[in-house]
Amino acid sequence: MASDLQATWAAVTALARTPRPDGSAPHSIRPLFAADPGRFARFSRTADGLLLDLSKTALDDRALAALLALAGVADLAGKRDAMARGEAINATERRAVLHMALRGEGGFRAGEEDASAEVAGVLARMREFTEGVHAGRIAGAGGRFTDVVNIGIGGSDLGPAMVTRALWTHAAPLRAHYLANVDAHAWEALRPALDPRTTLVLVASKTFTTQETMTNAALVRAWLAAGVGEAAVGNHLAALSTNLKATAAFGIAFDRVFPFRDWVGGRFSLWSAIGLSIALALGWEAFARLLAGARAMDAHFLGAPLDQNLPVLLALAEVWHVNGLGYPTRAVLPYDERLARLPAHLQQVEMESLGKRVALDGSPVAHATGPVVFGEPGTNAQHSFMQLIHQGTTPVPCDIILVARPDHAQADSHRKLLANGLAQAQALMQGKTAAQVEAEMRAAGTDAAEIARLLPHRVFPGDRPSATLLLPRLDPFTLGQLVALYEHKVFSLGALWGINAFDQWGVELGKQLAGPILAALEGGSAAGQDGSTAGLLGAIEKLWMA
Ligand code: F6P
Repeated sequence: MASDLQATWAAVTALARTPRPDGSAPHSIRPLFAADPGRFARFSRTADGLLLDLSKTALDDRALAALLALAGVADLAGKRDAMARGEAINATERRAVLHMALRGEGGFRAGEEDASAEVAGVLARMREFTEGVHAGRIAGAGGRFTDVVNIGIGGSDLGPAMVTRALWTHAAPLRAHYLANVDAHAWEALRPALDPRTTLVLVASKTFTTQETMTNAALVRAWLAAGVGEAAVGNHLAALSTNLKATAAFGIAFDRVFPFRDWVGGRFSLWSAIGLSIALALGWEAFARLLAGARAMDAHFLGAPLDQNLPVLLALAEVWHVNGLGYPTRAVLPYDERLARLPAHLQQVEMESLGKRVALDGSPVAHATGPVVFGEPGTNAQHSFMQLIHQGTTPVPCDIILVARPDHAQADSHRKLLANGLAQAQALMQGKTAAQVEAEMRAAGTDAAEIARLLPHRVFPGDRPSATLLLPRLDPFTLGQLVALYEHKVFSLGALWGINAFDQWGVELGKQLAGPILAALEGGSAAGQDGSTAGLLGAIEKLWMA
């Protein structure tokens, strides 16, 4: 079995190094279009209205067949089904991975536990609370709540903040704010916009021990107490957590705690109680549609054949880019301002999951794993880092996310937005040859010496891959589909690479080391610190504390 896996990996990497039968390079894209007018139709797929176009990648039939063979030998489908059955596939933490159960489809179990029943109970409480807040039955010292502040970090912040930003409109029932960083400049910037008497505060933390969140929670609690009086603070607080002992110790009443279970990973938790700020900000119906969109993508992921399966195909394209062609990064470019925080959310979902150097059995992996993910909305990105993506030395595969119909009436603006998104993908793929540049410059009347001087700078190599995702419009359903698509892509990559995509031991060391350094900043000894850290502590002491 291990040797089958090695052989299929070898087949993929060999294909990526060998010229195609027509002599074209395995990374080239233009010849594939020249040879196949039907390429768009053959390399794009849809799932419930969401379209994925992989035709502007270098995938050809042979590469796709080799990658699908790899998916077969790596038992991607078997591993997917084990996840859905609630097996403890997060082996290092001995936990099931059941964010799919959160979308409200029945029948999920985590061992003896009826996960779906647990989810249904919490969803019912979240709905009752949300509707109570909106109706004014649940209110603060100043009456109806106008603002909700979610205090959380990482998965307890990025997903809900991204969704709320994507879908919030001025007609929404509440304003939502997200406080993550332990840097109190964040709280100081937010505080003047809030009235404690009409502000609801959610302390969102899976563990309820995270230093940043607990520090901010204490600051904000003190502000509430000063504004509404200690006796009324409880009416302004709720907790979203798996740690019911710690929420009680913090003084949050049991009926104000919305729990979830340890089979929900932080970065996959926006669908759980952690999403309460979404429901409060946008309304219950929007949250329910978000879950429905994710549920539709779950059904597609669980049911569609692998060669038609959007998350699987996106994962296979990534394997081709990372392991075949050696591209170590990827850019996420949503051509929709409302999705401005999607790259940040995906950075956690992908890099915290796939930034692993050992296989499930603890042996070093034999191949590269998760690429660096970054991004910005288009068109802003075009005026920033796209230069490197067009003409830098290493290709950066791009995800270009387009939304067909806007939710405003400015058709001219939207046409320009779409034209730019499509043009970037086209420019990356087609490039511009020396002959084209020369012809253009000649036509513009440039003399031969100047053409020779500028030509190399004005050539675009082309053959740079992008995957395009086209959403009919941006609404709760399609956003749910989109986010779940990336979650399942991450699962698929974990299965293909043979790593655990659901732990995150790499974040622990920094947390541990911060303890003694904090003690030194509090006036303790810096003994035992490395020379650089001790030197910096000394410099900070002179600049700040002296
Ligand atoms: O430090 C990383 C991490 O554990 C993430 O995985 C998680 O999303 C984040 O911290 C926040 O954790 P918590 O929800 O327990 O406060």
